[in-house]
Amino acid sequence: MMFTQQEINEIRKDFEYLQGNPKVIYFDNGATSQKPKKVTDALVEYYQYENGNPHRGAHYFAMKSTEVYEGSRERVAHFIGAKKPAEVVFLRNATEALNLLAYSYGLYHLEYGDEILISILEHHSNLVPWQFVAQKTGAEMVFLRPDEDMQITEEELLQKVTSRTRIFSVTAASNVVGTMPDVKTLIRKVREIAPDVCCIVDASQYVPHHKLDVTDLDCDFLVFSGHKMLSAMGIGVLYGKEERLNAMEPFFYGGDMIEYVYECKSSYLPSPQRFEAGTVNVGGAKSLAVAMDYLEALGMDKILEYESALMNYAYDKMKKLDDVDIYTTSNLKRSPVLSFNIKDVHPHDVASILEHYHIAVRSGHHCAQPLHRSLGMNFSCRASFAFYNTFEEIDAFINHMEDVRRMMGLGLE
Ligand SMILES: Cc1ncc(COP(=O)(O)O)c(C=O)c1O
Repeated sequence: MMFTQQEINEIRKDFEYLQGNPKVIYFDNGATSQKPKKVTDALVEYYQYENGNPHRGAHYFAMKSTEVYEGSRERVAHFIGAKKPAEVVFLRNATEALNLLAYSYGLYHLEYGDEILISILEHHSNLVPWQFVAQKTGAEMVFLRPDEDMQITEEELLQKVTSRTRIFSVTAASNVVGTMPDVKTLIRKVREIAPDVCCIVDASQYVPHHKLDVTDLDCDFLVFSGHKMLSAMGIGVLYGKEERLNAMEPFFYGGDMIEYVYECKSSYLPSPQRFEAGTVNVGGAKSLAVAMDYLEALGMDKILEYESALMNYAYDKMKKLDDVDIYTTSNLKRSPVLSFNIKDVHPHDVASILEHYHIAVRSGHHCAQPLHRSLGMNFSCRASFAFYNTFEEIDAFINHMEDVRRMMGLGLE
């Protein structure tokens, strides 16, 4: 059963800014979500009553912060379906996690002639680190290119994967065109041809909206950032199969990741400490655990159903507008991001005019320049939705879209 209007009104009360500024329409959820009070309260609670440096010391504060931190890891492991908390590494964000994989896996395992298979849909965070690996090792970048409706077909996959494919890294949900590839099937098919491949999933735009089960996906690694799914910034997750993580070299070296240290050599702890050198972000980890509690209490299925309804409503309304090009896939299995351009108007002008009506949309290349180029343009606008958005907000947004060309002094064609 979908959220009722009454339920959405109640949910919006958890978000102080939205509640206090009812005219503000926040449609940049793909960049970062707003935070419910439970999450900000949890952060304050941590710093007021629980703050200590975890894993160090026998006093109350050290033990309390260790309990909070490791408890959060257990919560995250449960939320994503990991087999053990040790498969969850806390990092700053998805970008750091992908860089870790590039340095600690890519540089060690790839050589000249090997192939790195990604898609042209990828965010720069799942592209630029692999370019670095390719340049350093002599491996080749190979790109999956979607069809006209932005879908990655099986034929395309079978044409691009070879026995030299060593890394397959793909988004579970595009931040621009909304495509949600069937990642589980893609991974299975890639492994049939390249059994030694390392399969990585960028779930940054997927976890805020969908139930996730990494064990069922059977990926080797998966990454996401907390801030897009209600938590504080500065906390993200690298999931990895335990044997993969423990076979990898560390990325950062220093305190808290070692076992024994001698003058000229050291031995390292297993995952997750191996990859968490230095003082960690306990408050952030706690905020992520509380964000997950909050999402699960609402119900991931209900969130998905409501956000899909919002997305379909916005997509259908926008389709009816003159002089608007939509880039989001028409496939109903899509994440709630609506990318578009208004004819003859620069996206920054569109965003500025909408801002005049207190509507926040993103404009630019959305960290996906190759994707934009492949679509024959440089920039676009993007409205991205969350469960605290409403159908009325979409009506207002669509109405004001009609003003944009007029305000730019352009007539309807
Ligand atoms: C699909 C995707 N991957 C990766 C990222 C990078 O996230 P972060 O900047 O939090 O590391 C983003 C952020 O927009 C994204 O949308």
